[in-house]
Amino acid sequence: MARRKIIAGNWKMNMTPTEAVELIETLKPLVASDEVDVVFCVPAIDIIPAVAAVKGTNIAIGAENMYFEESGAYTGETSPKMLTEAGVKYVIIGHSERREYFAESDETVNKKVLKAFAHNLTPIVCCGESLTQREQGITIDWIRQQIKIAFLNVSADQAATAVIAYEPIWAIGTGKVATTEQAQEVCAAIRVCMAEIYDQATADAIRIQYGGSVTAASAAELFSQADIDGGLVGGASLKPDFGKIVNYK
Ligand code: 13P
Repeated sequence: MARRKIIAGNWKMNMTPTEAVELIETLKPLVASDEVDVVFCVPAIDIIPAVAAVKGTNIAIGAENMYFEESGAYTGETSPKMLTEAGVKYVIIGHSERREYFAESDETVNKKVLKAFAHNLTPIVCCGESLTQREQGITIDWIRQQIKIAFLNVSADQAATAVIAYEPIWAIGTGKVATTEQAQEVCAAIRVCMAEIYDQATADAIRIQYGGSVTAASAAELFSQADIDGGLVGGASLKPDFGKIVNYK
């Protein structure tokens, strides 16, 4: 079964609202594509102008995070309802930077994943090992645990529409991209894990991205691997190079 590739930018904490619209205007013609899904995950304050700026294009807007409650006394948080009303389609959940700097656990990731599905948002569920874990040889065990907890109580129908991003922590923002073999090995293991939790058809439907220092130079080889269905791109998504990554073929 051919899975449609999905190439998403994660802007992280970059771009003011004005800069966001300028960047979208620059990238619009460069990321035009009938072949792949293109997503810009932008800071919360940029969502409304970004949704307006991409109107009529092939670009979907994603959020970089959300909270798992509907509303209430949670100062500083953004609810799933706020995101859907603003026109957001995707939401990154459990990025390693959120796990590291904002104490997100596998359990909170699971709560957010469930809530995203409940609100028809497609979660981009992040997982990834540290360099120490890779050197200890526990990468696959670690990823399997992250995935199993993230998808607890998620139905097969929901899981089939999910996006999973494999992002080795040692490759994020370091310029040290994983080898295609390393990336494919873990993405394949994630698919096996999903087949164990659900069934093969569900596992075959899920799109699994690689993220970590993806550039125009590395995209084609990575995205041509059997179990890599696109990328989650940080630094390079803020540059015209993102057009080359989207049109990697
Ligand atoms: P870089 O592409 O800057 O390494 O970031 C990857 C990432 O964390 C995407 O979510």
